[in-house]
Amino acid sequence: MYIGQCIWHWTHLYKQVYDRGCALLAPVGESWGAGLLSYSTRQHTLNIEESPMVLAEKIALVTGAGRGMGRAIALQYAQAGAAVVAADIDGQTAQETSAAIEAAGGRSLPIQADVGELTSLERMIQQTVETFGRLDVIVNNAGVTRYLDIMEVTEADWDRIHRVNAKGVFFCMQQAAKQMIAQGQGGRIINIASIAGKGYAGTSNAAYAASKGAVIAMTMTAAHQLGRYDKYLSKSNLIF
Ligand SMILES: NC(=O)c1ccc[n+]([C@@H]2O[C@H](COP(=O)([O-])OP(=O)(O)OC[C@H]3O[C@@H](n4cnc5c(N)ncnc54)[C@H](O)[C@@H]3O)[C@@H](O)[C@H]2O)c1
Repeated sequence: MYIGQCIWHWTHLYKQVYDRGCALLAPVGESWGAGLLSYSTRQHTLNIEESPMVLAEKIALVTGAGRGMGRAIALQYAQAGAAVVAADIDGQTAQETSAAIEAAGGRSLPIQADVGELTSLERMIQQTVETFGRLDVIVNNAGVTRYLDIMEVTEADWDRIHRVNAKGVFFCMQQAAKQMIAQGQGGRIINIASIAGKGYAGTSNAAYAASKGAVIAMTMTAAHQLGRYDKYLSKSNLIF
């Protein structure tokens, strides 16, 4: 079972979207992703105390956790026992996700952060470590798009999409890896791509497709290169 498949099932069954992103493709190492395997945004009622705490003591940071898939991923990590940092450019929705986790007995920190800005995402990682002492998992989920014909895409559209989807994912991955390498026990980096990045014709626009292709490519390169720094940050621990 793959995280991407879970997300695909969710999008297919519940949102009826055709952009079958994330149906990609590397096994989740050990049991760290197990919390996502029962994935369903309709199951937003958390019951943390009665769930198997397979991720107890783990610290998971989810970007774009204020709504949509990011919120669902954050709740599922909490369900699996992880302390969850809910980061979003919309601080109000980040707080709502954290409040839902805490109300169910979990541990969570809301952070207002813009993943398209290096200082903001560095502060996000720093606040995570200051609060919980470490970082074990990052899910680079924050993403933006809008439906546009190829002839309508402007330079501003391209920059807005790539600032979050490509630059944001890259530097969140780099800065999270820096922290994980310093900890010396590896970690899990999960980058949410899209089948758009593999050339799916029906996606929202070509600039978005290019940004998701960038996510796939950078994840594969990072999976090779990060192993040089920490054997636990090897190929199987980065997924897209
Ligand atoms: N929904 C789908 O069908 C689908 C399919 C394939 C891939 N994806 C990818 O999955 C991810 C989540 O999709 P979704 O449909 O849940 O999106 P969504 O638009 O519902 O939620 C995205 C979240 O990211 C946050 N965000 C936007 N810009 C940000 C920034 N600069 N910094 C921090 N947070 C920011 C938003 O505030 C929002 O809470 C995206 O990367 C998307 O490209 C989605």
